[in-house]
Amino acid sequence: MDRKDILQDPSYTNKSEAFEAFDDIPTNPNLTRTIGDVINARYGRRDVLRGVLGVTATTALFGTSAMVAPRQAAAAADAGRYNFEELAWGNDETHHIAEGYNADILLRWGDPITADAPEFDVMNQTAQAQSQQFGYNNDYVGFTALNEEGTRGLLCVNHEYTNEEVMFPGLGRQDRAGFEGMTKELVDIEMAAHGGTVVEIAQDANGKWSLVRDSRYNRRITPLSTEMTFSGAAAGHDRMKTNADPTGMKVIGTINNCAGGMTPWGTYLLAEENFHGYFWTDVVDAEGKPDISSQAEARQMKRYGVPGRWYAWGQYHDRFNIDKEPNEPNRFGWVVEVDPRNPDATPIKHTALGRFRHEGAETTLSKDGHLVIYSGDDNRFDYQYKYVSAGTISDENAVFGSSLLSEGTLYVARFDADGSLEWLPLVHGNGPLNTANGFDSQADVLIDTRLAADLLGATPMDRPEDAQPGPNGTAYLMLTNNTRRTADQVNAANPRPESAFGHIIEIRETGEDHAATTGTWSILVKCGDPAVAAVGAAWNPETSENGWFGSPDNCAIDADGRLWISTDQGSNWGKTGKSDGLYALETDGNLRGHSKLFFRCPVGGELCGPYFHDNLETLFLAVQHPGTDGTMDFKGFERASTFEDPATRWPDFDPAMPPRPSVVVVTKQGGGKIAV
Ligand code: FEO
Ligand code: CA
Ligand code: CA
Repeated sequence: MDRKDILQDPSYTNKSEAFEAFDDIPTNPNLTRTIGDVINARYGRRDVLRGVLGVTATTALFGTSAMVAPRQAAAAADAGRYNFEELAWGNDETHHIAEGYNADILLRWGDPITADAPEFDVMNQTAQAQSQQFGYNNDYVGFTALNEEGTRGLLCVNHEYTNEEVMFPGLGRQDRAGFEGMTKELVDIEMAAHGGTVVEIAQDANGKWSLVRDSRYNRRITPLSTEMTFSGAAAGHDRMKTNADPTGMKVIGTINNCAGGMTPWGTYLLAEENFHGYFWTDVVDAEGKPDISSQAEARQMKRYGVPGRWYAWGQYHDRFNIDKEPNEPNRFGWVVEVDPRNPDATPIKHTALGRFRHEGAETTLSKDGHLVIYSGDDNRFDYQYKYVSAGTISDENAVFGSSLLSEGTLYVARFDADGSLEWLPLVHGNGPLNTANGFDSQADVLIDTRLAADLLGATPMDRPEDAQPGPNGTAYLMLTNNTRRTADQVNAANPRPESAFGHIIEIRETGEDHAATTGTWSILVKCGDPAVAAVGAAWNPETSENGWFGSPDNCAIDADGRLWISTDQGSNWGKTGKSDGLYALETDGNLRGHSKLFFRCPVGGELCGPYFHDNLETLFLAVQHPGTDGTMDFKGFERASTFEDPATRWPDFDPAMPPRPSVVVVTKQGGGKIAV
């Protein structure tokens, strides 16, 4: 399909997703192993020839007790760890929560967050106003308490991207070839709507949370005006220098902040995901496609999909035009640390964590106190990463800008067919990571993380989204989907060709230690409708028609060690008919692989967050892009939503207001812990 035609494809009603699907070019070389290789490696050719690869072998390969738990035994032995009545699946204009819980709107796109911020005026938006108002498309949500009871605290929220067609009147869908109607003024509003938000929130005697609008902590972090610095081996390197920054140490802002994490010392990590989409070029080939052949960095630009031309920013801001600033893309694709307790502290991009489309950056501590961060590279056929700090946590380094984030080892995962896992160190001089292969230093390894991981033989995955460390050296990886994987490209850890619904992998690190460089893996669930054999789903058989889901994206482990999954089906929405939502997924015992629906989104929204308060009495959720994904399948909607004609006007159903991405706060009616 031609680049210009992508927006005409009715499968995509969300511009960013359409562009992302088009841009994802599987250029990595680790796609040569077939399912036959995998089976032979694990069972041996003799067994294959004897025909033992029936149900038993398939279960051993891909499954866990999720596939074999006997129905009666499960029902008798285990009532499960999540105490709530599951919600019925469906899809309509509003959100729904399981009975007995409140789901209140806490913050909406445009809400003023500082004392002197103007009220939201959707017909008269300005970049200056947006810089003091809650941003667009809330994704990651984190919380750090300001008092012992946890009734006051700082909410940290990412704003991943913008949907012009429902943000601004009169625009309609944007075609990247023209961006008709976009102006510098609108671009600057978009930039001010990206980034992050830190706000103080407080809980009243009735348990209701609200914004503390005059708090000194409240601020926006944007790609329009927030200066940041770099740490780690790539900081100050020649490839990080631009005309505006000859030091290679200063950059304005952060973009496409998808998921993130909170550090053990209460700072806020924002992951930079689809950064490639913001860069522009005027150099095109005869078909109008970007021609990067004369770029000095062409090899890595191709591997990273730079320039994506998803947004018109490069037409008004030279730094987003690679013809003028070819090194600027090297300054994005990192993980940013923000100190929510100090509004004057300059955020830091920590290059030791590598440069790729970071979905998130969830932290934990190893047994002896190393900081460990799991982070997926959300692209079809890209990789799962893990970072382990060199030092261990102490009073001195448990602070913003910690050396634990600048001195450490980045690893990439190889999932072997025998169920073992190896973490391969991305260290200059290790194996092929040398000058002969284009890596002159550790800075090159970090800037070109994907190229380095290719050479080490990492396993190409089905779009690694959120990765959450759990108790006892476990970690849970959301592989959201990959409809481009062909039958001869499957591997044991990504066993389904044309996977529309994704799967979840459980890792068990050796010695139950998150810093280990080896471990084992298994597939917890294979998503999709278990009633349709062709889907190849695998759930605990006790899972009801409400409980199964497609396209796991974000996840959380609560203070009781329980796993919660939120979904983003994107254009696959029509394949399940279900809205996106939050699911409680059992990981242990007879009910392992059993899922229950707790919350569901309004039409066209994906669910982000989730984040549990330590006391388990509050759950923060983020409803992203309500009214956009898959709306052509909804009640006869025949085109993508626009500002004038959206599929929903959630959350307030004001006829003069388009849908507004919002943070939702869940509490139990009458108080108490959630689902306990
Ligand atoms: Fe921004 Fe991979 O979701
Ligand atoms: Ca995500
Ligand atoms: Ca997503």
